[in-house]
Order: sequence, then C-alpha cells, then structure tokens
Amino acid sequence: MSGYVHTVWPVKTTLITGGSSGIGAALAKRLVADGQAVAVTGRDKARLARIPGVLHLPGDSTDYDAVLDAVTATVKEYGRLDHVVASAGFATHDRLTETDPDRLRDMILTNVLGPALLVKAALPALRETRGRIVLVGSVAGFIHSPGNMYSVTKWAVTALAENTRMLVTGDGVGVTLIAPGRVDTPFWPDGPPAGPALSGDDIAGTIAWGLAQPPGVDVNTVVVRPTGQPT
Ligand SMILES: NC(=O)c1ccc[n+]([C@@H]2O[C@H](COP(=O)([O-])OP(=O)(O)OC[C@H]3O[C@@H](n4cnc5c(N)ncnc54)[C@H](OP(=O)(O)O)[C@@H]3O)[C@@H](O)[C@H]2O)c1
Repeated sequence: MSGYVHTVWPVKTTLITGGSSGIGAALAKRLVADGQAVAVTGRDKARLARIPGVLHLPGDSTDYDAVLDAVTATVKEYGRLDHVVASAGFATHDRLTETDPDRLRDMILTNVLGPALLVKAALPALRETRGRIVLVGSVAGFIHSPGNMYSVTKWAVTALAENTRMLVTGDGVGVTLIAPGRVDTPFWPDGPPAGPALSGDDIAGTIAWGLAQPPGVDVNTVVVRPTGQPT
C-alpha cells in the first residue's frame, strides 16, 4: 500500500480588500471554490453580504483601525492569515484639469494609502505563516497619459510593491504586483472603452496562480492585458 497522504490542512486563508465587486469578488469566489477560507472587506454592507461563503468585514480600506480590525477578525475566525490582496480601488476617469479635488483626495487615499495600511496591519500575521501580499496595480502604473492622476496612484502601487518586497523578503513573505489592463467590471461606470477587455475571472485566475506558487517561489510583477489592447 502506498504511504502517500495528501495533506490539505491547514486551509489557506486570504483577506481581500474590495471583495464585494469586480476582481475582488471574482477572486473570493475562485478561492472559495478552491477550498480556501476567505474574508472580504468593502464599504457597502449590503453589497458585501451578497458574496457567498466568506467572512464579511465591512470597512473602509483607508481607515487603519478598520483594516487592523479586519486582519484581527480574520485570524480570530480562521486561526491564521496566509494571504492579503489589496484590490479596493477606483478611478475618477477624468483629467487633473477637470477633476473634483475631494474625489481626487479619495482616489489617492484609496489607491495608495489603502494598500500601504493593509501591508502594515497584516505583516505580523503574515510573518507567522510566511505568507503572501498581492497588490492590484494597473497597466496605468507602467505607462503615462496626460493629466491622469489614476495613473499616478498606480505608479505609486508599482513602487509600493517593490519597496514592500524589499522590506519583507527577509521574513519569508512574498509580494506580487498584479497589473491588469482593461477588465470588464463596475470600475467602468459606463462599461469599458471599446475594444478587448478581460473578465474579473481572468484576473482572479492570475492572482490565484500567484498565490499557489510553492514555498520559496515569489512571483513579483505580472502585467496582464487582454489580447489586442494596444497601450
Ligand atoms: N477594471 C479595470 O479595468 C482595472 C484595470 C486595472 C486595475 N484595476 C484595479 O483593480 C482593482 C479592483 O477594481 P475592480 O475593477 O474590481 O472595480 P470594482 O468592481 O469597482 O470594485 C472595487 C471594489 O473596491 C471596493 N472599494 C472601493 N473603495 C473602497 C474603500 N475605500 N474601502 C474598501 N473598499 C473599497 C468596492 O466596494 P465599496 O464601494 O462598497 O467599498 C468594490 O468592492 C482596483 O484597484 C482597480 O484600480 C481595475
């Protein structure tokens, strides 16, 4: 008789910010289907509650107390934290010359401060598991376009990923920047621009692949466009 035993315990545990819609929601669904324990955050409680099979942790990703509470609640519920995924984010979809300053402030805080606070809050628990951090950046964090402050926030996420990697790699913690091109999600209030677009499930699959790397393998930067997206 073969002595081989396939051990699946302990179940991997993932906390996703912005898990109530789009990429975050698709990832939650994918990881639950893969047998992981998943916790999701988002501000709109009713929308969050519609995500099945996960721990719902309503909260704002720019509020450090809320982020810390989400980490603490995840560890309390599941006993460990293996992965955090910073997906919460949005775009004002306009230029600096036309933008509303308050919306601009919100976007900078959500897209830049939010992921940084998640790293800070989760790091003690991730050191325990030698876990992984995934930051959802964007192709816009690798190219320039005029007056595009969303792009500026995503350049900051590109930088945050590499400087976080350097900060935590000695702790055995991995850091992956996933930089999507166009994805057809509610991120685009009027639908994505004409042309090809990925689905949330496509990017969820890429993130799940990064998370599933064997111990000792740290995928750092993945840029994913729909075939045919020119820029
Ligand atoms: N869609 C694309 O084409 C595309 C391309 C490249 C990169 N991205 C990036 O992918 C990430 C996910 O976007 P998506 O396409 O999945 O958009 P989405 O469908 O609009 O989802 C955004 C999620 O973030 C949450 N969120 C927003 N602000 C938050 C805050 N302050 N605190 C907590 N949660 C917050 C939203 O829930 P609440 O509003 O209820 O809080 C929602 O769950 C973003 O970082 C975006 O920049 C998207």
